[in-house]
Amino acid sequence: MERAHEVIVATGSRAATRVTSARLDVAQSLSGLALALFMWAHMFFVSSILLGKDAMWTVTKFFEGYWFFGRTYPWLVSVAAAAVTVLFIVHAVLAMRKCPSTWKEYRTFQGHMREMRHDDTSLWFVQVYTGFAMLFLGSVHLYMMMTNPHRIGPYESADRVWSGWMWPLYILLLLAVELHGGVGLYRLALKWGWFEGKNPTASRQKLKRAKWALTVFFLVLGFATLAAYIKIGIEHQDRVGERYVPSARGPRGQR
Ligand code: HEM
Repeated sequence: MERAHEVIVATGSRAATRVTSARLDVAQSLSGLALALFMWAHMFFVSSILLGKDAMWTVTKFFEGYWFFGRTYPWLVSVAAAAVTVLFIVHAVLAMRKCPSTWKEYRTFQGHMREMRHDDTSLWFVQVYTGFAMLFLGSVHLYMMMTNPHRIGPYESADRVWSGWMWPLYILLLLAVELHGGVGLYRLALKWGWFEGKNPTASRQKLKRAKWALTVFFLVLGFATLAAYIKIGIEHQDRVGERYVPSARGPRGQR
């Protein structure tokens, strides 16, 4: 009787652990998806500089609330950056539970990976490395955005990128984000069976092509954007600190 009770308790606790683990998995997928969608939007907003300084200035003022309230509130950007930071940390903590935690585990995993030579297993390792890099690189950027929301704009951003020496960090962050995001979305699609056709092998091949196309697209867009900020930063390096004044009439307080 005693033994039967122990078996029931043990089975019940294993089932509860599985349910918790499944819930954490869903939370990890949702936070990853939200971050990936945020990054797509972020890349388009930041790349508005490719359309000109006025275009980027207009986007900046939009996020500071000017077009809604008639004046700017840079702290709105701080709030958005804080929300993204929380999501970033939650996602990282959830993902960490799957990472090898000791040198022995790491070596064992590498051994399996070499033996299997399976693309998707190697891709998982790309996620571990890039995720780790992003924890450091992304935190620096997010902290800056949170604490200096009023210093975002065509000259302000370009000065930070060039004269503030952020360009090396952005190069590494861009590579990490785009590889991590691309692989992450691909793995999400596989895991939850999105876009699964009648032939699983053909669907997987198509997904992999789409993944690379997206990664290449955002890397090209990102490097073109970074080049534009660097160019403006070099031209503006003797006037660091000067704020951008739009060519058309803008918000009174900003001119
Ligand atoms: C609400 C949060 C965020 C805001 C307001 C924001 C804003 C910006 C701005 C204004 C720039 C232009 C350069 C500058 O001003 O320094 C930039 C660049 C960049 N950001 Fe963010 N960012 C945010 C979150 C993130 C996150 C979470 C990541 C990735 C972990 C990220 C990755 C990058 C990268 C890689 C660049 C370089 C852009 C490029 O080369 O195209 N950002 N961001």
